[in-house]
Amino acid sequence: MSEPLLRVENVGVTYGKTVALADVSLDLARGGRLALIGESGSGKSTLAMAIAGLLPKQARQTGSIVFPGASARPRLGRDIGVVFQDPGGSLDPVMRVGDQIAEVIRAHEDTSWIAARVRAADLMDRVRIPKALSRLNSYPHEFSGGQRQRIALALALAANPSLVIADELTSALDTVVQRHIVNLLDELVREDGLTLLFVTHDIALASERADQIAVLYKGQLVEQGAAADVLGQPAHPYTKALIGAHLSLDTPRQKRLAEINPDSLNLP
Ligand SMILES: Nc1ncnc2c1ncn2[C@@H]1O[C@H](COP(=O)(O)OP(=O)(O)OP(=O)(O)O)[C@@H](O)[C@H]1O
Ligand SMILES: [Mg+2]
Repeated sequence: MSEPLLRVENVGVTYGKTVALADVSLDLARGGRLALIGESGSGKSTLAMAIAGLLPKQARQTGSIVFPGASARPRLGRDIGVVFQDPGGSLDPVMRVGDQIAEVIRAHEDTSWIAARVRAADLMDRVRIPKALSRLNSYPHEFSGGQRQRIALALALAANPSLVIADELTSALDTVVQRHIVNLLDELVREDGLTLLFVTHDIALASERADQIAVLYKGQLVEQGAAADVLGQPAHPYTKALIGAHLSLDTPRQKRLAEINPDSLNLP
């Protein structure tokens, strides 16, 4: 196997007395798509932030996160594009969206303002904002929630990063919009040959869009591997429970009940 883009080695993170992650190790292949799944509070965002270099000050991290092929630590915004839950966090409400995107482009590339604006329109078009060119001068509040998410995505891609980290980028939106956005993200990442790490609650989406799946449970990585293996032959009872809880109503009732029965789980 070729050298991974990213290697997480025995990473632990605590917030005061709360252990958010314990001894997590995983590799992310160059060009790979890794989905992080697990219940609320299991440490998904903490791991995503640790990799992005965005842990809050009060967090203490042990272990290491290395980028084997890179000569220096990747720069956030340049080498790593992030899209977090709340697009308000990445979009400036009082700045026209075209200027925001163009500014990111110009922060990382020696290019003219006009050329950067043209690229911004191009990016808005790629994230499917209708009439992109004429919307460059609109402010964030003039777009729908789903469009703002897509603009945040355009912003994350503006500096041509090699890794994109998306944390629940859609949970504030309805599930149909969510799926559109993750599917779009995956398409863009494939077109550009980027590496993707995304956090999701949606196992079906993970199975469609990720080639690797890592399952967190109470801060520990209980399972990781090829998506088909993790979902097809889950080794850990928690993964089985997650998949069980997701079984659709088409699944025979007997099987669903067997999968969801907590007595069969032996959870700690
Ligand atoms: N800034 C913080 N200060 C203190 N504790 C935190 C902080 N951020 C997260 N935690 C705690 O760390 C643990 C892991 O949280 P994290 O946000 O990583 O979970 P998550 O898997 O992303 O959950 P969700 O699915 O709800 O987003 C939780 O117990 C949480 O309460
Ligand atoms: Mg989270």
